Amino acid sequence: MVRIFDVRYVRLGTDDLESATRFATDIVGLDVARRTADAAYFKSDQRDHTLAYFDGDPRDQALGLELYDPNDLDKAAAEFEEAGYPARLGSKEECEKRGVRAFISTTDPTGNTLEIVARPFESGVRYHGTRDAGIVGFHHIGLCTTDAPRDEAFWTKVLNARVSDWISDAALLRIRTGHHAVALFPASTKGIQHVNHQVESADDVMRSYYFLKSRNVRIQFGPGRHPTSSAMFLYFAGPHGVVFEYSHGLRNIQPEEEANYRPHQYPWDYNSMCYWGSKPEMPTLQVAKA
Ligand SMILES: [Fe+2]
Repeated sequence: MVRIFDVRYVRLGTDDLESATRFATDIVGLDVARRTADAAYFKSDQRDHTLAYFDGDPRDQALGLELYDPNDLDKAAAEFEEAGYPARLGSKEECEKRGVRAFISTTDPTGNTLEIVARPFESGVRYHGTRDAGIVGFHHIGLCTTDAPRDEAFWTKVLNARVSDWISDAALLRIRTGHHAVALFPASTKGIQHVNHQVESADDVMRSYYFLKSRNVRIQFGPGRHPTSSAMFLYFAGPHGVVFEYSHGLRNIQPEEEANYRPHQYPWDYNSMCYWGSKPEMPTLQVAKA
């Protein structure tokens, strides 16, 4: 099993780097860590960066995952190979771009690119958002899956994720203590379904709700509260169909609770997605009418 420490970053291709950069800073509230001719890197916490937009095909996306023991990179590559997911070692130039000492690139069974990174850079510069969104940091992502049970097995057997809850077949998977670091949503193709940043308080969620509305940003779900993780949430539209989320109050499952923790099964119903009755716009979260 490849032991992951946490999600680390998201890389998103864009054919309009300027607009994507404006969205990340002026709307989401991230901080520019650095810019190059063909990419922009954004901070949300103490990490070097947690989001990168780069010149490229918007379908070109990657999730960075930090390896628990950086000495295990070769072993991890062998384990992915053995499981049927060949891994490629990142070049020196690619490592420099990502601010990591080393990484391997592979895919999950759906074809989502995963970059397993060793010794990613921390930043000595404090994060201060372009606007006061109350961001605590990048926290988790939703990932599209074309076969949820198959991909759940990949994440829990090849990697060390654990199921916190299911909504129908959609597994909410934890890696550290947070209720979910990766959520697998059934879809017809691969892709990053949403990118989550935690915010300091419920006030920050609501403040952003009014801010985003004033900027004509499309709200796609919420404000609401998830029955599964108990987080209060707000989802809104980002470039190229990638949805961004702020949330606060996400449940943690502490190490001492692991042994006796039982995942809860929720039905595929809007009530399983929001306590308060808000309905999602995202195609991956639609409930077919009877
Ligand atoms: Fe989320």
